[in-house]
Amino acid sequence: MKNQIIELIAKAAELDVDTVAGILEIPPKADMGDYAFPCFQLAKTLRKAPPMIAADIAEKIGEVDIIDRLEVKGAYLNFFLKKEMFVKSMLDAACVDNFGSSTVGNGKTICIDYSSPNVAKNFHVGHLRTTIIGNSLYKIYSKLGYQVERINHLGDWGTQFGKLIVAYKAWSSKEAIEKDGIAELMRIYVKFHDAAAENDALNDEARAWFTKMEQGDEEALEIWQWFVDISLKEYKQTYELLGMEFDHYLGESFYRDKTGDVVKRLQDAKLLEESEGAQIVNLEEYNMAPCLIMKKDGSSIYATRDLAAIFYRKETWNFEKCLYVTGQEQKLHFAQVFKVVDLLGNEWAKDSLVHIPYGLVSLEGAKLSTRSGNIIYAEDILKEAIEKVKVTIEEKNPSLEDKDEVAKIVGVGAILFHDLYNQRIKDVSFKWDKVLNFDGETGPYVQYTYVRCASILRNVPSFDPSADIDYSKLLDEEAIALIKEISRFPQVVADAAEKYEPCVVARFAMDVAQSFSRFYNACRINVEDEVVRNARVKLVNVTKTVLKDALDLLGIDCPEQM
Ligand code: ARG
Repeated sequence: MKNQIIELIAKAAELDVDTVAGILEIPPKADMGDYAFPCFQLAKTLRKAPPMIAADIAEKIGEVDIIDRLEVKGAYLNFFLKKEMFVKSMLDAACVDNFGSSTVGNGKTICIDYSSPNVAKNFHVGHLRTTIIGNSLYKIYSKLGYQVERINHLGDWGTQFGKLIVAYKAWSSKEAIEKDGIAELMRIYVKFHDAAAENDALNDEARAWFTKMEQGDEEALEIWQWFVDISLKEYKQTYELLGMEFDHYLGESFYRDKTGDVVKRLQDAKLLEESEGAQIVNLEEYNMAPCLIMKKDGSSIYATRDLAAIFYRKETWNFEKCLYVTGQEQKLHFAQVFKVVDLLGNEWAKDSLVHIPYGLVSLEGAKLSTRSGNIIYAEDILKEAIEKVKVTIEEKNPSLEDKDEVAKIVGVGAILFHDLYNQRIKDVSFKWDKVLNFDGETGPYVQYTYVRCASILRNVPSFDPSADIDYSKLLDEEAIALIKEISRFPQVVADAAEKYEPCVVARFAMDVAQSFSRFYNACRINVEDEVVRNARVKLVNVTKTVLKDALDLLGIDCPEQM
C-alpha cells in the first residue's frame, strides 16, 4: 500500500517515485495518519507555500478506494488509510518467506575483517565487541543478498614472537605451555619485558629470532606455529560459545611473502621516502602522520601487511566493500592505510574501504571472575552469564527441559544484545543486573517475548498459519500498532546495513517486543470466537517469526521455552 500511496503522490505532484519515496514519512503517532508527506522540500522548486502544495496534491488525488481520508496539516499531507485494507497489506507482506530480506546485494561481495585477536594474548572484552558487531554485520548483509566473506585477520606475526621464543627458551617448557596455554604465554611475555629492561641483549636475541622467522628458519617457525595453534584452540572455544564461525583465518603471517610486492608498487609509484633509515609514505598533505612501511632493519609492519591484505582481498573476491571492525584507537592507522591505497591510483579505495570503530567496554561495578590479576577473558564473562542464568532457571522454572542449552542461549544472548543495543561508538558499561534483567530492555526480555508467542501457539486449539483470516478482527489500536511496527523490518535491515549499525535491528526487536506486550495485555488471544482467535493467533505467529529473525541478525538464538 505504501507503493500505491507513493504512486498517487508522484502522479499528482508530477514527481518521480524515488523522490516521493525519499520524502514520505511514517508519522510518530497514529492520530497523525498512517503516512505523511511533508512538502517543505518542494516549496523552492514549485515556488508555493508548503500548505498550498499539500492541498493541491490532496485535491488531485481525490477519492481513492484505499484512502479513508486525507488531511492537510501545516506543511504535511497526512494519509489515513482504510484500516482493514492497510492491516491486510502489511500483514500479507510480513507473511512472505524470508520477510526482511532483499536482493540488492546479489552478485556483490562484502569482506568483513573482524575479531582478529592477537596470538599469545587473551581474547579480551574488546575483541568480544568486534566479534559481536562483525558477526551481526555479516548476518545483516547476507540478509540483503550479499556474498559475505568473514575474515579473521589474526595478529600472528611481528617482533613480539621473537621475544616469546626467547622467553619460552629461558623461562618456560613444553609442558607448561600445553597445560596453561595463553595464560602461560602471557606470563612469560611480561617476564621478558621486565628482564629486557635490565638486560638489553635480550632484545637483540629477540630480534634475531624474528629475523629467523622471516627467513623461514625451521625451528623458529615450528615454535611460532605451535604458539598460534595453542592460541587458536582457545579462541575457538570462545567462538563456539558464541556460536560464530569464520570463512577464513588469514592472519598477518599469511601476507609475509606479499609485503615485498607492496613495497615494489610504492617504489614504482615514487611514493616511498626514507626517514631515519625507515621507508615511509609521506601523508603531510592530508594532515596525517606518515605511514611507516618498512623498518630500518627491512622488516615489514602491521600497516604493510594490511596493505598486502587489501590487494589480496580485492584480487581474490573483488569486494564491493571491505569493512574493518576495530576499536576507535585504530582510526588513524586505517585512514593512513586507505589513503596509501588511494594514492596508488585505486579509485575504489575511497568508497569501498571502511573502518567501523566502536567504543570501549568498561567493567566498572561488575564483579567478574578473572583467572589471574585483572586480565579479563571474554570466555569467562560468557560462562559467568550462563551460570547466572542457570541459577535463575533453577529458581523460577526448575522443571524446564534442556536447562543447560537454554541457559547458554539466554546467557550468551544477554551479552550480545547488551553490546548491540546502543550505537557502536558509545562506550559500553557492563553491569550484570542490567544485562540480565528479564524486565528491562534486554536480550532475555526479547527472548521471553518470543517464548510467550511460542507458548500461546502451543496452547491454542488449532492454528493453520496459511489459512485466510478476517482482517477486520485486527483493528484494535494495539494490534494495528504492532502490525505497523513489524512492517518496518525490511527498512530496518536496510538502514542497519547502510549505517553499519546493528543497534537499529536491536531497537527494532525491542520495539516489537514492547508492542507485542501492549497487544497481549489489551487483547485476549485464546478466545471462544474462532474468527477473532484465528486472526489474533496469526498476528502472534508473525510476531514470533519476526522476533526470531531480528534476533538472528544479532547472532542471538531463541529457546522455545525458558
Ligand atoms: N589484531 C588487531 C588487534 O587486536 C586487529 C586487527 C584488525 N584488522 C586489520 N586488518 N588490521 O588490535
